[in-house]
Amino acid sequence: MRTYLVTGGAGFIGSNYIHYMFRKYKDTIHIINVDKLTYAGNLENLKEVEELDNYTFVKADICDKEAIRKIFAEHDIDRVVHFAAESHVDRSIKDPEVFIRTNVLGTAVMLNCAREAWELPDGSYREGKKFLHVSTDEVYGSLPDDPHAFFYETSPYDPHSPYSASKASSDFLVKAYIDTYKFPANITNCSNNYGPYQFPEKLIPLIINNALQGKKLPVYGDGKNVRDWLYVDDHAKGIDMVQEQGRLGETYNIGGHNEKQNIEIIHIILETLLEMLPQGDPRRELVSENLITYVEDRKGHDRRYAIAPDKIRAEIGWEPETMFKEGIRKTIAWFFEHEEWMKNVTSGAYQKYYQEMYQE
Ligand code: NAD
Ligand code: TYD
Repeated sequence: MRTYLVTGGAGFIGSNYIHYMFRKYKDTIHIINVDKLTYAGNLENLKEVEELDNYTFVKADICDKEAIRKIFAEHDIDRVVHFAAESHVDRSIKDPEVFIRTNVLGTAVMLNCAREAWELPDGSYREGKKFLHVSTDEVYGSLPDDPHAFFYETSPYDPHSPYSASKASSDFLVKAYIDTYKFPANITNCSNNYGPYQFPEKLIPLIINNALQGKKLPVYGDGKNVRDWLYVDDHAKGIDMVQEQGRLGETYNIGGHNEKQNIEIIHIILETLLEMLPQGDPRRELVSENLITYVEDRKGHDRRYAIAPDKIRAEIGWEPETMFKEGIRKTIAWFFEHEEWMKNVTSGAYQKYYQEMYQE
């Protein structure tokens, strides 16, 4: 049985990845999920797997070297899939330090502990051990509004927000381990994800949640910033394929050529909500374009992100499976079925964040 150490598995992408992996590999893998359970980590995301014999949860901070070392000492880890991070750009603008601690120091601790556990005296590594660092396309900076300009694996790093700067630093640490110690790792740089379990501070779940309550839909700047959206299961599949089939030491960009302006996303969500809400549902009265509210722009707001997924397609055969219209319907259906989840994550600390962020 292959043993995975997944960091940040209680967050949005990590929990979807864990569900994907258990669907695909069933009881042939053991997953150990290490998560600090910050505001973004939620064990409710993993209710369906928590009773499985081949799933283990460890509450720990990835910056805590002793805690991480202990996991490697107690289990023969074959694969590390490193998601844990502070992940929200707006929070990084307000409070950068925690991003540097978790994203940079935490990655260094993960790399060190894996190397300690896996390296042999001659500098080679134990058979089959692999580390995958999950990163973002935001490290490449911002593209012009030119439909022919894309991010490639060879694009220079040019991060602008404290979030992307911290992720860029963590990517460079992984690259340094690959070059210096021949460490068996890959990096994936993915575009914006959406889907079930996404915390409603990010654009898509925030708009769904606000629209259903008749609350304002905040649009930063002119609403024409472009993001390249990928359904989260397609990302999970890409991570697994890169780890199994990718060339060690290589970086792979993951994205599905699905660029949309933020304002287009908001219109699609509103239309889809009205298509999906049954006649007579009182929320139909609340969902309206009149809720769209232009607000002050994000500081240093990157204009456009767009991935060229040529390398992952050519070398590994990865293709996205979920068209945006289908993905957004699945996401909205999930939120309809998980009202309680949304209520739980938007109470307490989130209320305070929301009021401070949007001055409401
Ligand atoms: P998230 O914020 O939803 O989840 C992060 C998880 O990490 C949470 O469960 C949190 O509790 C945990 N965590 C945070 N600090 C920790 C620490 N010090 N020790 C242990 N656990 C800690 O994030 P996400 O959207 O799921 O993103 C996961 C990864 O994917 C991140 O590395 C992010 O940079 C990357 N990524 C995200 C996107 C996206 O669109 N969301 C796109 C590309 C790449
Ligand atoms: P977000 O989901 O925070 O992801 P990222 O900043 O990592 O791309 O934001 C996606 C886009 O939506 C980004 O251009 C900022 C914009 N945005 C809004 O216009 N209003 C909002 O309330 C939020 C959260 C984001």
